[in-house]
Amino acid sequence: MKIAVLAGDGIGPEIIAQALRVLEVLKRDGLKMELEEAPYGGAGYDAHGDPLPATTLKLAREADAVLCGAVGGPKYDVLPREKRPEQGLLRMRKELGLFANLRPAILFEELASASSLKPELVAGLDILILRELTGDIYFGSPRGRRNNTAGEREGFDTMLYSEPEIRRILDVGFQAAMKRGRKLCSVDKENVLETSRLWREIANDMAKKYPEVALSHMYVDNAAMQLVRAPKQFDVIVTGNMFGDILSDEASMLTGSIGMLPSASLDVNNKGLYEPAHGSAPDIAGKNMANPLATIMSSAMMLRYTFNQEEAARRIEAAVKKVLAQGYRTADIYETETRKVGTKEMGDAVVAALN
Ligand code: IPM
Ligand code: MG
Repeated sequence: MKIAVLAGDGIGPEIIAQALRVLEVLKRDGLKMELEEAPYGGAGYDAHGDPLPATTLKLAREADAVLCGAVGGPKYDVLPREKRPEQGLLRMRKELGLFANLRPAILFEELASASSLKPELVAGLDILILRELTGDIYFGSPRGRRNNTAGEREGFDTMLYSEPEIRRILDVGFQAAMKRGRKLCSVDKENVLETSRLWREIANDMAKKYPEVALSHMYVDNAAMQLVRAPKQFDVIVTGNMFGDILSDEASMLTGSIGMLPSASLDVNNKGLYEPAHGSAPDIAGKNMANPLATIMSSAMMLRYTFNQEEAARRIEAAVKKVLAQGYRTADIYETETRKVGTKEMGDAVVAALN
């Protein structure tokens, strides 16, 4: 198992360090892994003037999986768009063909009261948001800036989906639903957008191939509302790149904190990039405050989806559950009567639970 490790910026290096300690335990216990680190994001820009340096992309291509921290920071906000840390991530997704982004929102019962929703609304929550990751308005062209005939400045982007792009993500959606509760909710804006009309037509057509799956459709604005009104109505949500970006942040809060949400981005062969769904949190970087659990659980997803090591994945997830039951909490999920710990101490607790 060859793994490229790209810690990135902000809290990235701190949370990745804890995930690496967890992987070290599994390595000691017999999993054969080769890990190699490389600069990426703002760190890539600092080292090589590029958020995705050629050597880093090469390493990511050659690896079976990529484990990422987070990218971005105020220091880089002034750079031109193509040099910004986020572009490193977007280019890697595109270059590696990572079109299927899995963002599970699972509530650990220990955290039911840390959610901003009433505990009874989220108790037992287990939904999967499947976001298309290499198309849509993120990558559509033309895009740019111009002056209109009145001489006013305009910015424009293109929302675009081809039929094969829509089919392959919906396929992943139907298959994921088959392995879970057999309910697939396709989210679009069909009342307004052409891309959404095509998307919905194709979804209805593909549903014939999956008679066991109950397919429903929902407008994205309604989905945003339903996620906070009655989130347990969902099993698998499948949607485009931009809607999925927004809805997955929203869904993360149902679980108590975005610091708890792992993600996987897969290509057609299940090669994957694994990263927490949260950002680089520059405000708390270097303060030993960040929650490393989303990254630790991303490494569990890596073992499951790319390496088919279900048992090792479950071992990590069980260790996370155990430390939560023991009361360990980083600041983002802290409540009175629990034990507030830092990033490193949370890592210590997970390592101890693994042992
Ligand atoms: C995410 C992030 C990225 C995105 C940013 C950092 C480009 O918000 O992974 O959800 O918009 O996809
Ligand atoms: Mg996002």
